[in-house]
Amino acid sequence: METRETKPVIFLFPFPLQGHLNPMFQLANIFFNRGFSITVIHTKFNSPNSSNFPHFSFVSIPDGLSEPESYPDVIEILHDLNSKCVAPFGDCLKKLISEEPTAACVIVDALWYFTHDLTEKFNFPRIVLRTVNLSAFVAFSKFHVLREKGYLSLQETKADSPVPELPYLRMKDLPWFQTEDPRSGDKLQIGVMKSLKSSSGIIFNAIEDLETDQLDEARIEFPVPLFCIGPFHRYVSASSSSLLAHDMTCLSWLDKQATNSVIYASLGSIASIDESEFLEIAWGLRNSNQPFLWVVRPGLIHGKEWIEILPKGFIKNLEGRCKIVKWAPQPEVLAHRATGGFLTHCGWNSTLEGICEAIPMICRPSFGDQRVNARYINDVWKIGLHLENKVERLVIENAVRTLMTSSEGEEIRKRIMPMKETVEQCLKLGGSSFRNLENLIAYILSF
Ligand code: UDX
Repeated sequence: METRETKPVIFLFPFPLQGHLNPMFQLANIFFNRGFSITVIHTKFNSPNSSNFPHFSFVSIPDGLSEPESYPDVIEILHDLNSKCVAPFGDCLKKLISEEPTAACVIVDALWYFTHDLTEKFNFPRIVLRTVNLSAFVAFSKFHVLREKGYLSLQETKADSPVPELPYLRMKDLPWFQTEDPRSGDKLQIGVMKSLKSSSGIIFNAIEDLETDQLDEARIEFPVPLFCIGPFHRYVSASSSSLLAHDMTCLSWLDKQATNSVIYASLGSIASIDESEFLEIAWGLRNSNQPFLWVVRPGLIHGKEWIEILPKGFIKNLEGRCKIVKWAPQPEVLAHRATGGFLTHCGWNSTLEGICEAIPMICRPSFGDQRVNARYINDVWKIGLHLENKVERLVIENAVRTLMTSSEGEEIRKRIMPMKETVEQCLKLGGSSFRNLENLIAYILSF
């Protein structure tokens, strides 16, 4: 029997943001279930709760980060982490490799772009986890061309013009980062590209049957092995890598609602909105007359603690038709029979979780890959509605009514079912993700 001493060991280095921690920990569980030992290297910033993963080893490295509130935006945190973790991560990995005779490889999140030269430096395989889907990946990979052609500056003036190099996308959909300094976004792009190209391989939480053309395109630009093995969360039970506590009262509230009646609204873990947009969403949801479950994360509304700006009695007057929480057990909420629609920021984890439960979406993207995902949801896969313009209460009300009660909504619901089935098939024996995972494991064991 294999013991901790004889099992191949994978070191994982997740990026400490929610949308990156979840897929990395799901991946860790997938490898653990396939006989690997797992050691997680993590920062102090947003450190995972190791007691939720007693089957893994954890090693903490100092990240030297100042107070997160002192940074102008998340991209600056990202750059600072990338510069301050170079030495601590290098020292840690060197030590771990020397101590583990069965060390197989390290898997790093693509946002750890400083790790680009590690493979050479340590003569040790480095695989990269890219948490976006293939369509967004291809769009990101054309960043230099888009920049050269000046498209990124056309996002406002020619917002609806098509992008010749990226079928389906419009100028306003191009991946863009929430940062005050555009050079900061460029630095991130260049760093991530370099790190991906010098890797031993790239893992995606994506499904190749849904994005065949994009996979072919990605293979041309990235001549390293690519493995689409998603959706990760379907291999393993719900992850406990959440940084915020899940409010489980959502589920008993959902139990009281009619089947397919609830619109679930959440804008993910990073995006923020201003006060007026928050109120427009609130009134739009209320006026739709559908029951709604709304995640208002602390920090979602600029300059506000939580929902104190809602008019007095807003929730009470809705007589149980509305529930607002700080953080929800999202996969369980989406899987609940009462949930019938998803107002989402279109982060890839959320999008995939929605597809897996065949929940049609209303898209309100913010930045980065979310805009690409929203375009695919609306125009390519046709499994949702895109809020293209300013978010106003009537727009939200109409979108919710269309999705939940109209024949157009019914058509959308019918289209998402086969997508869910495709995803389920790909995990079964002989399916694409099943095969790709087998190939990935064989690849790692061959190092
Ligand atoms: C960020 C980017 O915005 C996204 O586009 C990129 O693909 C990953 O990083 P984020 O805002 O975190 O993503 O959204 P998303 O990718 O959807 O991930 C959010 C995760 O948090 C999901 O796994 C979701 O299940 C979970 N979540 C969300 C909860 O557990 N509870 C909630 O209330 C909301």
